[in-house]
Amino acid sequence: MVARSGGKQRSRLAYRMRRLQAKARRLFSVELWGAPSLVHPLFDAPRPRVRRTRAPTPVDPALVSRIADNFRRADADFNTQSPSMWQKIESNNQAFTGALRQGDAPGLQRQFETLFQDELLGGFGHRESLYFGENRWRPGFQELRMTDMLLSLGEALGVLNLPNHVQMNLLDYVDFVHTDQDRLLADIEARLGFSLVMPLVGNPPVFRLNGVSTSADMVRHAYVAFRLRQLGLNPEDPIVEIGGGFGSLALLAHRAGFRNYTIIDLPYVGAIQTFFLGTALGPDAVSGYGEPEKAIRLLPPPAIKDIGNGSVAMVINMDSLPEIGEPEAGAYIREIGRISRLFLSINQEAQAYIPDVGPQLVVPDLVASVDGFRLMHRSRYWMMEGYVEELYRIERSRG
Ligand SMILES: C[S@@+](CC[C@H](N)C(=O)[O-])C[C@H]1O[C@@H](n2cnc3c(N)ncnc32)[C@H](O)[C@@H]1O
Repeated sequence: MVARSGGKQRSRLAYRMRRLQAKARRLFSVELWGAPSLVHPLFDAPRPRVRRTRAPTPVDPALVSRIADNFRRADADFNTQSPSMWQKIESNNQAFTGALRQGDAPGLQRQFETLFQDELLGGFGHRESLYFGENRWRPGFQELRMTDMLLSLGEALGVLNLPNHVQMNLLDYVDFVHTDQDRLLADIEARLGFSLVMPLVGNPPVFRLNGVSTSADMVRHAYVAFRLRQLGLNPEDPIVEIGGGFGSLALLAHRAGFRNYTIIDLPYVGAIQTFFLGTALGPDAVSGYGEPEKAIRLLPPPAIKDIGNGSVAMVINMDSLPEIGEPEAGAYIREIGRISRLFLSINQEAQAYIPDVGPQLVVPDLVASVDGFRLMHRSRYWMMEGYVEELYRIERSRG
């Protein structure tokens, strides 16, 4: 009897020791990640593996020739760009703009085939060098960011409960950070009702989760495509996005069912959007400057003047107006007030100083200089730290 009870005590002690050791190991391996744009403190976080893709990208010569024609028309009409950081970014891409100007089809084909492998997407896409080359970020940052955005999207959609550091102990929080990402992606896609697959156009780096090749851009922009529905927009409602990156939000809005979408952007960026979206969705889904209108229109800045008064349900601007030169940004706000009923802005307000340009702009300051914008909602942006989401209703006098 005595020996057996001693044995029980020993095994209880051994069990407690094992638990303590496990806890200590977990805590010693903790690495706290609080880096730019991350929403979660990432303790001991998983880093989903990013893969290179090398599948040949189909390049439709007819689409490339349309892109060069559209670019030349857009470029001829857009000559009023005010000083901004985007002039410098564009000047880094002269091989591309030169090929567009000359209608150099083989040159354009080569650059489109490897869109995500060179620097053409600098400033607006998760290209390969961010994962495999640039050491501006600590190694692993982009992979941690993917984990952070998956958790953020899960929380924003209500697929995950929001963690709470007052109510949870550290180990429970570490477990939360380790949420099974295959399962999470499946639950997110089920809640969204559309896919987060990244089209393999231009060899993008991808994460393989639950059998789906997805990307950071798909996860981040899915939130806004979902938000359009949540805010009551209907499939045929006209939507205008100012500054659309390579077209990832437009693609996801299309998957979410929206069929009347215009991007206003720099002519060379419009050329990239036309290629990406025209390859992912088919050339008949897109139209450029001077072409008959299709479901997604990729237009240069002056084209905003052709949009009718009050004819747009919502203008979206994400991570872009603060970076545009002041006279142009002010003109955009006036045009938004003229054409749209709602304005959704997701932007930062840090006013970083840009050499030879000045401080970046702040959207509420721009809006304050124009009549008729009524702020309905202002909150932190779910998907990235340091960004604010604002919804304005535009009230215009009748008659
Ligand atoms: C930082 S990127 C953001 C892209 C995208 N909205 C996103 O969140 O990923 C800024 C965008 O603003 C666009 N942009 C820059 N100057 C512009 C201008 N004058 N008019 C319209 N878009 C402009 C860029 O081409 C790019 O698409």
